[in-house]
Amino acid sequence: MSRKLSFVSCILLILLLSTWVAGQQIGTSLAENHPKLITQRCAKGSGCSENPRSIVLDANWRWLHTTSGYTNCYTGSSWNRDICSDPESCTAKCALDGADYPTTYGITTNNDELTLKFVTKHAYGTNVGSRVYLMDSSDSNYEMFYLKNQEFSFDVDVSNLPCGINGALYFVEMEKDGGSSNPNNKAGAKYGTGYCDAQCPHDIKYIKGQANLLDWDEKKKVGRWGSCCNEMDIWEANSIASAYTPHPCNVTGLHRCEGGNCNVCDQPGCDFNSYRLGDRDFFGENKIVDTKQKFTVITQFHTSDNTTRGDLVEIRRIYIQNGRVIQNSKVNVPGMNQYDSITNKFCDSQKDVFQDKNDFKNKGGLKAVGRSLDRGHVLVMSLWDDSNVNMLWLDSNFPLDRPATQPGVARGTCPISSGKPEEVERDYPNAYVKFSKVRVGDIGSTVL
Ligand SMILES: *[C@@H]1O[C@H](CO)[C@@H](O)[C@H](O)[C@H]1NC(C)=O
Ligand SMILES: *[C@@H]1O[C@H](CO)[C@@H](O)[C@H](O)[C@H]1NC(C)=O
Repeated sequence: MSRKLSFVSCILLILLLSTWVAGQQIGTSLAENHPKLITQRCAKGSGCSENPRSIVLDANWRWLHTTSGYTNCYTGSSWNRDICSDPESCTAKCALDGADYPTTYGITTNNDELTLKFVTKHAYGTNVGSRVYLMDSSDSNYEMFYLKNQEFSFDVDVSNLPCGINGALYFVEMEKDGGSSNPNNKAGAKYGTGYCDAQCPHDIKYIKGQANLLDWDEKKKVGRWGSCCNEMDIWEANSIASAYTPHPCNVTGLHRCEGGNCNVCDQPGCDFNSYRLGDRDFFGENKIVDTKQKFTVITQFHTSDNTTRGDLVEIRRIYIQNGRVIQNSKVNVPGMNQYDSITNKFCDSQKDVFQDKNDFKNKGGLKAVGRSLDRGHVLVMSLWDDSNVNMLWLDSNFPLDRPATQPGVARGTCPISSGKPEEVERDYPNAYVKFSKVRVGDIGSTVL
């Protein structure tokens, strides 16, 4: 084949690709304007400086319609099979549109504070919960965080989060551009694409530039593929219970899984939940950390040599409320030492005494979490309820087939009948979480 011919066929291929395959297109019904959010970067000796940033709504929440008009590609819980007959055509023919953050999704920002409201009724239906990411200064990529030998802090108001609702702030190893280096994904981080976490969620509508519509289950709203990556949960909480939890995976970046190869992440993680670990007076309404009022949460990522190069060896937690520094609770469980932070030793001991499988260790423990942090993580803030197990793993007894008196089963004071999505959405539509004063920097530099 001559050089010229191959050049021509190359052009043809590019044309074909851009006409038929290139997708996860951008809809133009509504311009995408990211709400502004001020964050801070801090350093020892020089204090903190303001970083004006913005947040972006995840693609899964967005209106997905035909590129040629305004026919829905996805409605409620089902794909429009006339348009979306297969993953490729559904990628090429459908566009993600801009978001009206306050009116449709109940998302507002004010200076350095973000508010996520639970249920929002709007002209086209009802929105429940949301998930947003922090953008970098270019406003078209996600901000990447490198947390080893650093600390991360923020203020939170959980006072309006009842049993079954989780106001979460966490990090995942998503791609900086949301996957837009894939030619099928035109939307990218600017439209909140590329989510993954350690549960390998199967409800993500587009994974690696292809629609997840094969074997789509309309009841569970899940497809054949899962979207897996390392996850560091800084904060999963409501006004009753809280936990911080690293979840290592044995894959790097975003791993699209299916069937048997979805067992790549430690799904339970190694959690520090003060109530579960035997201090029932530490966190909650009128407790030591009083969830009726705002407080500051500081999380430190200590390494073996006190530099960014060393292995991650300890994740420490400190609270501040009304100007008072509150050290993390100490473990008070027969058979365990009085740990007050997450270390590999703490995780081994907890898994052993609670008779839980130690997948944390199998997936590489804190060292693997540190390697993942080296590659950079994206900041996620979300508000959600749990259609799988009603959030009982956070705020009630779990699992239910073990006696509540067995160590590790009781995690909070919520009744085992609480947290059903249809009930919390009906009874607490105005629930909300507020995150503010997001700061990152050298250990000891962000607050204290
Ligand atoms: C990851 O872990 C799973 C389950 O433990 C195992 O089957 C798989 O081979 C591991 N993959 C790698 C790359 O280590
Ligand atoms: C790291 O710092 C801690 C206290 O800040 C200190 O106890 C420890 O010895 C240091 N480790 C190394 C390897 O320098």
